Amino acid sequence: MRTVVKGTVLVTGATGFVGSHLVRRLLADGWRVHLLIRAGSPLKLVAELETRLTVHRYHGTAEDLAAIVRQAAPDLVYHLASLFLAQHRPEDIEPLICSNVLFPVQLLEAMTANGCHRLVNAGTSWQHYQNRGYSPVNLYAASKQAFEVLMQYYLETTPLRVVTLKLFDTYGPGDPRPKLIKLLNTVARQSTLLAMSPGEQLIDLVHIDDVVEAFVLAGERLLDSLVEGHESFPVSSARPLPLRELAALYEKILGKKLPLEWGGRPYRPREVMVPWNDGRPLPGWRPRVGLEQGLASIIESGENC
Ligand SMILES: NC(=O)c1ccc[n+]([C@@H]2O[C@H](COP(=O)([O-])OP(=O)(O)OC[C@H]3O[C@@H](n4cnc5c(N)ncnc54)[C@H](OP(=O)(O)O)[C@@H]3O)[C@@H](O)[C@H]2O)c1
Repeated sequence: MRTVVKGTVLVTGATGFVGSHLVRRLLADGWRVHLLIRAGSPLKLVAELETRLTVHRYHGTAEDLAAIVRQAAPDLVYHLASLFLAQHRPEDIEPLICSNVLFPVQLLEAMTANGCHRLVNAGTSWQHYQNRGYSPVNLYAASKQAFEVLMQYYLETTPLRVVTLKLFDTYGPGDPRPKLIKLLNTVARQSTLLAMSPGEQLIDLVHIDDVVEAFVLAGERLLDSLVEGHESFPVSSARPLPLRELAALYEKILGKKLPLEWGGRPYRPREVMVPWNDGRPLPGWRPRVGLEQGLASIIESGENC
């Protein structure tokens, strides 16, 4: 059976965890998928899909980006590329601003100059420390906000429409990042005691399949002309769990106690004790993969993710 081609999308950050899952879904849905990746980036997580993708390597100039967008002529751009840093050092400032502010502004310039006016953007719940309208947990979150501020210029001067999805914690198969679930998985294979914080902070974990669904729906909103200006939605489980309970659930599914020393280290500065919880939900989206089900499938797969 021939797949009906829906149109063309351009994806940044497709070599990362969320991007690689999104690309797989977009191909399955019948999109022509173009990737915009940094010159030296290995395709790794999407390597087996390479023959079905058009890969554009970006060398760091505005002209380069403009030429790529012109060539790809996308109906829609998914922007997920980002440098994530929980805490920064002085030497991180330049790469952080380059990745999270300069690059996406150049992308907007290239898009609007080439008649492409639909963008799905990845933000973070960390732009809302202590549930405030804007309060960055760290400089990474501040850089995400800075991009949104600069975006306003393009919103007011071009037909640009944007949906920003603000992600919380994500998990699922094929996750290369050194995040919580990977940590628990590693700890389960060893006997050395791991020092943890007191563990009362609430963790809002969303399965990657649900995250990808949110990106697809956001794209459809733009294509269906349902978006005025810039919309922003949380991609939250709405059922955050204290870290200690999450670890206990993991232990229950695994059938094994983990060597965790609760209170063995202090909370991080500006630790998020209660995640942002007053955003307007994305119409038509709700998480479908329960935490127990999602964790069980990872544990059963035996994958160290
Ligand atoms: N996953 C989460 O839990 C979570 C939570 C909140 C927000 N987010 C946001 O959601 C998006 C996707 O997250 P993710 O977890 O998939 O990210 P990821 O696995 O770290 O991948 C991000 C991608 O960004 C690109 N990138 C551009 N500049 C970079 C730099 N200086 N260092 C490293 N990578 C750089 C890379 O792709 P190329 O090299 O191919 O360009 C990389 O593969 C990001 O915008 C992130 O900020 C994610």
